[in-house]
Amino acid sequence: MADAQSRPALLEQTTNLSAYDTSYIGFLIWWYTAPHIINSFVESNDLTGKRIVLFATSGGSNIKKAMEDLRQAYPQLNIVGGKMLNGAVSGDIDDGR
Ligand SMILES: Cc1cc2nc3c(=O)[nH]c(=O)nc-3n(C[C@H](O)[C@H](O)[C@H](O)COP(=O)(O)O)c2cc1C
Repeated sequence: MADAQSRPALLEQTTNLSAYDTSYIGFLIWWYTAPHIINSFVESNDLTGKRIVLFATSGGSNIKKAMEDLRQAYPQLNIVGGKMLNGAVSGDIDDGR
């Protein structure tokens, strides 16, 4: 995480997302933000025109900085919202609809 430019390798370089209008991107909060493998994913896949909903777990931090960092790094993306899911169960996520 010290190297902002690091892009860890993905197990699958690209994922076929063409059938989906909304992508839910989930991650652990590391140092108040999303781990760099999320950058790897975003930069390796075509998310143009999709609604993107973030979700995360943490030891206590909220998702605000992660969302701001991703919106700033990728202003072309339509990140519609995000939610912490610490202790959550399915159905708890708010995708803005
Ligand atoms: C390198 C590293 C950095 C982390 N940074 C944060 C942080 O900045 N804020 C936070 O609340 N939790 C932080 N965590 C905790 C993880 O977000 C947490 O362990 C993860 O969401 C999984 O939750 P669990 O341990 O309850 O299963 C960090 C964990 C690691 C390993």
